[in-house]
Amino acid sequence: MDLQGLNVGICMCGSFCTFKNIIEQIKLLKDMGMNLTPIMSYNAASTNTRFGTAEYFIKELEDITGKNVIRTIEDAEPIGPQNKLDIMIAAPCTGNTLAKLNHGITDTPVLMACKAHLRNNKPLLIALATNDALGSNFENIGGLFNKKNIYFVPFGQDDCIKKPRSMVAKFDLIVPSIEKALEGIQIQPVIV
Ligand SMILES: Cc1cc2nc3c(=O)[nH]c(=O)nc-3n(C[C@H](O)[C@H](O)[C@H](O)COP(=O)(O)O)c2cc1C
Repeated sequence: MDLQGLNVGICMCGSFCTFKNIIEQIKLLKDMGMNLTPIMSYNAASTNTRFGTAEYFIKELEDITGKNVIRTIEDAEPIGPQNKLDIMIAAPCTGNTLAKLNHGITDTPVLMACKAHLRNNKPLLIALATNDALGSNFENIGGLFNKKNIYFVPFGQDDCIKKPRSMVAKFDLIVPSIEKALEGIQIQPVIV
């Protein structure tokens, strides 16, 4: 499938340890000719951690995409009425955002962007990364699996000994997951 010119929203949530890997994948999407619209949650856009400063990652995203990062609910809201995006990707998607998405809560720019996009009956692809995927968030992952237009990048346990409830998406499967989601299909196998 030729993904050149595809209009893609990229929502980054506060899974800071995965930012470096996600940025690599975003570069790949750009190199493939996709037109990227970057969005960050309040926490992603404002928290400095041992993995890097918020300012650093905002600049990286803006340099790669050539667009200002959407960082407010009011700037994310027009994604609905403008109806320009073909697919929205939440990568990385935290346990916090997963839980809110499953329960219809819309209190961050990422959640507003996802809600605005879903109103247009188009696919939302989730690349999760959370230590409680097999704990408190298990039910939210299950809930989202049963919702229309929501798809998952395949995911698996990243450290079953030290973090037995943790699951992380295989970020290098984002591109084939996009292709399937655009056809209305969940890529399989989803548990890897
Ligand atoms: C250094 C650091 C790493 C974190 N990594 C993760 C993570 O991988 N997955 C996750 O679900 N939450 C992680 N968190 C917690 C989230 O940032 C926190 O739940 C936050 O409220 C998420 O907000 P958001 O979903 O709006 O981005 C991390 C926090 C810190 C400070």
